[in-house]
Amino acid sequence: MDVNKIAVVGAGLMGSGIAYISAWHGFDVTMVDVNQDALEDGMERIRSDVMTGVDKGKLSLSEAQSLMGRLKSTTNLEDAVGDADLIIEAIFENMKVKKEVFSKADKHAPPHAILATNTSSLSIDELATATDRPEKFIGMHYFSPVAAMKLIEIVIGEKTSDETIETAIKVGEKQGKEPVKARDSPGFIVNRILMPVLREAILLYEDGIATKEEIDSAMTSKAKFPAGPFALGDFVGLDIAYHAMSTLYQELGDCFKPPETLKQLVEDGKIGTKAKEGFYKYGGEPEEPEEPKGADPDWLVTRIQVPVIREAMILVDEEIAKKDAIDKAMKLGASFPKGPFEMAEDIGHDKVKEEIEKLEEKHGECYSVPEMLK
Ligand SMILES: NC(=O)c1ccc[n+]([C@@H]2O[C@H](COP(=O)([O-])OP(=O)(O)OC[C@H]3O[C@@H](n4cnc5c(N)ncnc54)[C@H](O)[C@@H]3O)[C@@H](O)[C@H]2O)c1
Repeated sequence: MDVNKIAVVGAGLMGSGIAYISAWHGFDVTMVDVNQDALEDGMERIRSDVMTGVDKGKLSLSEAQSLMGRLKSTTNLEDAVGDADLIIEAIFENMKVKKEVFSKADKHAPPHAILATNTSSLSIDELATATDRPEKFIGMHYFSPVAAMKLIEIVIGEKTSDETIETAIKVGEKQGKEPVKARDSPGFIVNRILMPVLREAILLYEDGIATKEEIDSAMTSKAKFPAGPFALGDFVGLDIAYHAMSTLYQELGDCFKPPETLKQLVEDGKIGTKAKEGFYKYGGEPEEPEEPKGADPDWLVTRIQVPVIREAMILVDEEIAKKDAIDKAMKLGASFPKGPFEMAEDIGHDKVKEEIEKLEEKHGECYSVPEMLK
């Protein structure tokens, strides 16, 4: 199916980004929001991004003018979806409100239109029940900032048709993104695999095995991650990380339980760089680093990488995603220097298995050996 007209529901951070890249890449776009001020703010963000693009020479003035000419805005959902081929929803992360939007969009959109959600954590199958077209329902999970991040996770529900999947992939590619497919499941690919990085790092810190600085430094200098888990957590926002981990904890159980240190920091409002304090302090007097524990950096890297590789293998075991898709998703969506399966190649599968077995013996079933290694 060809998509020409896209309705983007929600003009916030993500919605305005999705509307911008869609208009940029030739789609006719109508952006809709319940809140007139939010709609104007969203349009203003797009105008400012377009002007930055012109200033940086990425867009000519005439391209910028035609981009803006392809973009409309309204507070009326019925009008926005009435002639759309694809509706991409990016409103608050709330199941009830999203279902209301989809139920209404389903009634007013043309029969051929595809309904997509940018949800980070809600079930695609559950959202699809609000419509009479589950075969035309799909997740299109973009990453922030939308214009800069290359990845889009195409999240496939139980009833999503092959034609819907193909169309969503084609749209993502035309928007300049690299789509990867994942079956609907908690955290999809990136959030599911990213969580063990932070969780394992915090547990090592809580157990007094290494300091935050030792762990961050091992992950950047030895494993070549762009930032260590603690610095990255502070940058992303510990509230967001805590929320993502709590969702996985609810859906998948104790192995994703947020560590006490993370919970406490969030409760104290120490949510990272935006609060000037998280795992580290920002601004003011430089902080005295803790006395090093003397942990071996190579050991630390393997100790964190192995549970990450294990999680990736479980996604393959459970047929949630393919190896290549996972490697690509983690590199593009989480700036991993290598995908988990590439890391496993480097370490050696026998050694990975041996390390997981050691962890399982010491810490129990949260470190069970994936089927693929047995
Ligand atoms: N922020 C991120 O980094 C990120 C990344 C990937 C996915 N997401 C997902 O994208 C979605 C939007 O996130 P955001 O950060 O852009 O939120 P946001 O708060 O910036 O924007 C949400 C917008 O939705 C509007 N809205 C609320 N109810 C509406 C309705 N019934 N109809 C139309 N508009 C409505 C609000 O007025 C607001 O402008 C969420 O599902 C979130 O989980 C966010």
